[in-house]
Amino acid sequence: MFAITGITGNVGGEVARNLLAGGQPVRAVVRDLLKGEAWAKRGCDLVCAEINDAAALTAAFKGSEGVFVLVPPNFDPSPDFREARTTAATLSSALGAARPGKVVYLSTIGAQATHSNLLSQHTIIEQALGELSLPIAFLRPGWFMENSAWDVASATKNGVIQSFLQPLDKPVPMVATADIGRVAAELLRETWSGHRIVELEGPHRVTPNEIATTFANLLGRPVRVEVVPRETWESLFKSQGMRNPTPRIQMLDGFNEGWIEFQGGRADPRKGNVTLETVLRRLIERESKL
Ligand SMILES: NC(=O)c1ccc[n+]([C@@H]2O[C@H](COP(=O)([O-])OP(=O)(O)OC[C@H]3O[C@@H](n4cnc5c(N)ncnc54)[C@H](OP(=O)(O)O)[C@@H]3O)[C@@H](O)[C@H]2O)c1
Repeated sequence: MFAITGITGNVGGEVARNLLAGGQPVRAVVRDLLKGEAWAKRGCDLVCAEINDAAALTAAFKGSEGVFVLVPPNFDPSPDFREARTTAATLSSALGAARPGKVVYLSTIGAQATHSNLLSQHTIIEQALGELSLPIAFLRPGWFMENSAWDVASATKNGVIQSFLQPLDKPVPMVATADIGRVAAELLRETWSGHRIVELEGPHRVTPNEIATTFANLLGRPVRVEVVPRETWESLFKSQGMRNPTPRIQMLDGFNEGWIEFQGGRADPRKGNVTLETVLRRLIERESKL
């Protein structure tokens, strides 16, 4: 049996769908049993656990052949990343006590970066889990293609999208959540000892210009991409309610300056096959049904 956290979200749902399609038993770890009903109907065992509840997570992970660990995104962490440190301690305690057969931790491209930034939250958690004597795969995907969900309304209505990734012709490692879920499910079915790093990107690197062109082709209308000027980010993010925009700004700088990258070396590089066009088509269809 495989325990899947974040199952009601993008990646966790894909992991579970892949395992169920392969006839594998799945335990859905949710924080709200009502939201898990759809998974129970598909035959999943259903358990309730918050990401910071060590006792509930231990029970959820116990007896499992493998655990998929997804930490919910926090775009506005405290300056000392105390939330990630708490989650790191909770997960270490729960995994250390439950001792599942293996763990796939959803991390990120650039988790090895030494400059502080939003992704340092994954660095902190990777380091804590790295102390555990369990088979652990740190799955480090690129920028999610699904981040373009924010652009669908503006592309459709106004024929313009905004880009924090810049310059606009710089290719960025991106990947579809369908590929991440598939690879995570494959890793859960593999056997290994010790710790490994798997780095995952899509079929080719994507520029912001290509995102605009792909939207234009799918929508049958011109779509242009505009740079959001770097000097406006802090006031913009604060106007959107963020208390501490610095880590997010540092992350965007890291992508734009190129110090958020795959580490290569001993990491296992994997490629997905889902294209940007496929992802944007699904996002447009989803938006049109809202
Ligand atoms: N976006 C990117 O470009 C990118 C790139 C690399 C890595 N990542 C990483 O990918 C992860 C996000 O993946 P995603 O897009 O699949 O996330 P998502 O769709 O936002 O789903 C988040 C999941 O976490 C659950 N959750 C939220 N708060 C929780 C809590 N307190 N306790 C337990 N579960 C909780 C949610 O459950 P509910 O349905 O109950 O809310 C949901 O199942 C993050 O760790 C992020 O850093 C993202």
